[in-house]
Amino acid sequence: MTQPTMPSHVKIVEVGPRDGLQNEKAVITVAVKVGLVDRLTAAGLAVVETGSFVSPKWVPQMADSAAVYAGITRKPGVSYPFLVPNEKGLEAALAAGVEEIAIFGAASETFSRKNINASIAESLVRFEPVARAARDAGVRVRGYVSTVIACPYEGAIAPAAVARVARALRDMGCYEVSLGDTIGVGTPASTLAMLDAVAREVPVRELAGHFHDTYGQALANVYAALEFGIAVFDSSVAGLGGCPYAKGATGNVATEDVVYLLHGQGIATGVDLDALVDAGAFISAALGRPTGSRVARAVLAKRTA
Ligand code: HMG
Ligand code: MG
Repeated sequence: MTQPTMPSHVKIVEVGPRDGLQNEKAVITVAVKVGLVDRLTAAGLAVVETGSFVSPKWVPQMADSAAVYAGITRKPGVSYPFLVPNEKGLEAALAAGVEEIAIFGAASETFSRKNINASIAESLVRFEPVARAARDAGVRVRGYVSTVIACPYEGAIAPAAVARVARALRDMGCYEVSLGDTIGVGTPASTLAMLDAVAREVPVRELAGHFHDTYGQALANVYAALEFGIAVFDSSVAGLGGCPYAKGATGNVATEDVVYLLHGQGIATGVDLDALVDAGAFISAALGRPTGSRVARAVLAKRTA
């Protein structure tokens, strides 16, 4: 039976095509990226973060984002957000016909400089006109706060610092703020301490959890956040990923594992697990490596047994 505090439906924001692939060194063709996105939406995912309009010098793998967006089969009712760090990125996103963007800040000064070459204060000044122009153009704006538990350069981050940035993003008109444990070091205790501080500034229904799995705690953190009332989670098919500016950090929690957990709790996601496993198998084969999802491995082993 679903516990009373648990949501009955959870929205999954699939970030594999962006967060999952952005750190890959080998060129991944547009055709493979398109094949991945279309398989993810066929599996029932209603939000698929598809790429980034960032500097190609900083993140070369995302340089073909406009071509990927032009190549996919856009499914009615599905959102395809793209990361946008500045006005140049917004211009490119609008030219491509993008309908949702995500601006991305951090709670750590050092990470902010390493990731987007701006202090936290500078980044908020930079985001404000981007968010306004996007909304004026009818484009929805999501916000990210990175390093919500700890920073690879500064260590532990104060929950109050996360709350300040989350609040600033909300005040700019972000309809949802995703809280990123970029280096995957959080545990349920540190996650709940952070959520407690952020929820004083931003309503829980407007928050999302974004857990990387470096220390194997991501699923435990998802569960803790669910009990806290969070009903939106970012995840990456096959557990793909890692941030180019957070050395050693591994991929996001695997979407297959999150879907299995949620369905087991009687929580609806709209996602077909078997079709999702197929999407993960497709991209894992293209990358030439085994899936990072424990659930996918189990499902695939059962199929061939
Ligand atoms: P900068 O070097 O300070 O930028 O970078 P600039 O304005 O001085 O411009 C330098 C050059 O970049 C110029 O080209 C610009 O035209 C170009 P040049 O004249 O030298 O040929 N440029 C651009 N080109 C294309 N699109 C653009 C763009 N902007 C400038 N939008 C900048 C500042 C923000 C651009 C850079 O730092 C950047 O692109 N950073 C993005 C880094 C990134 O994508 N990181 C990964 C995503 S965040 C993440 O993974 C965390 C998350 O998953 C949550 C979590 O896990 O915590 C979201
Ligand atoms: Mg991330």
